Amino acid sequence: MNNFIFENSTKVYFGKGCVKEYLACLTEKYGERVMLCYGGGSIKKNGVYGEVTEKLTSAGKKVFEFPGIMANPTYGKVLEGAKFAKENKIDVILGVGGGSVMDCCKAISLAARYDGDVWADFWARPGIIDFKPLPLGVIVTVAGTGSECNGGAVITNEDLKVKTGRDYPQCNPKFALLDPEYTYSVPEFQMVSGGFDTLSHIMEIYFSEPDEDNVSDDIAEALMKNVIRNLRAAVAGPKDYTARSNLMWDATMAENRIIKLGKKTDFECHQMEHQLGAYTDCNHGAGLAVLHPVYYRHIYRSGIEKFRKFAVNVWGIPADGKSDEETARAGVEALADFIKEIGMPTTLQELGIDETVDLKEIADSCAVVPGSYKKMTHEEILEIFQECMK
Ligand code: NZQ
Ligand code: ZN
Repeated sequence: MNNFIFENSTKVYFGKGCVKEYLACLTEKYGERVMLCYGGGSIKKNGVYGEVTEKLTSAGKKVFEFPGIMANPTYGKVLEGAKFAKENKIDVILGVGGGSVMDCCKAISLAARYDGDVWADFWARPGIIDFKPLPLGVIVTVAGTGSECNGGAVITNEDLKVKTGRDYPQCNPKFALLDPEYTYSVPEFQMVSGGFDTLSHIMEIYFSEPDEDNVSDDIAEALMKNVIRNLRAAVAGPKDYTARSNLMWDATMAENRIIKLGKKTDFECHQMEHQLGAYTDCNHGAGLAVLHPVYYRHIYRSGIEKFRKFAVNVWGIPADGKSDEETARAGVEALADFIKEIGMPTTLQELGIDETVDLKEIADSCAVVPGSYKKMTHEEILEIFQECMK
């Protein structure tokens, strides 16, 4: 194992009824002015809004609503939220939603306590937080990003056409409430997209050095198998509590830093998808589903032993009679087949990206990370995008 430091400051409350049971006492110590942030209104249709506001008002809180956080949250929305928080002298932010709401809230919590140029100082490059962001609590309504248990916030700067994330431990939510039943109302496409995002996070961590025996990789294999099995179960039975609860905790486990310990991590596929998102506003998990098999066909020969292990240990592909390279490739094709099986898109066209989109400009804007088995060039990223059009 490589050296590491581990800390995770988020306290998690998991399970059926956890919001009803714990929300009031969790907000007790933060003052009375609560900024309730949410997205486009799903929480009003599924009853979550009623449950949350009832708990807050009966606990004597004054609720200031900040709705309309869009998927792929923008820097403009962050600034609007920070202004709102300052004007209303907010004591604590409560984000109710998925990755978009949680990420936007983390950035608001920081921007509300900072008077400088937030983008330049914290997102354009890693910054130093020598002040306390506004306290934040989250209630997760769609599983996938794992944002509830880290300080990561992925924000789109529309003017610069850059979508980028930074993980500041000071932005970790103080508490996270995870009720798997809250995810029952998520439409199937979004549920599968979130599940695939979780699988992608685990793969991006797994396919990177070190490759010698290490506990992070072993946990990653167990998590991948759990995501695959429970995504199948959740597609078959949308109200299967066992499946939904496993998927919800898989998502947190993938991004609570535990399986990253001692690993370089790759995340090149995320870099590519984020820039596709910055230019086209495509769905995050769906973008990853299109890119992953094509990206892995480009890199697996540079990490044959690990891809072979993935095929055998995660997909149960027998190694007998095949060369290591053939087994490794079979694992990548099993992943591609799974993506089709769960109804995810397999081409960029299916994401609404056509020939009018300048793929070269997007490819050139992608960051190239050091952790991949094969260092990408912008030319190869463009090749990957072009292959994803077919
Ligand atoms: O906006 P509403 O009306 O609430 O509808 C949302 C939205 O349309 C809907 N939804 C959420 N909960 C629901 C529900 N619909 C019915 N019932 C419910 N219970 O789902 C849609 C998508 O929500 P969103 O939050 O955008 O999805 P997701 O959780 O996939 O988040 C995606 C964002 O997170 C970023 C992505 O890049 C993207 O911007 N990521 C954040 C990460 C992090 N902070 O660690 C890591 C990830 O790699 C990712 O980049
Ligand atoms: Zn992701």
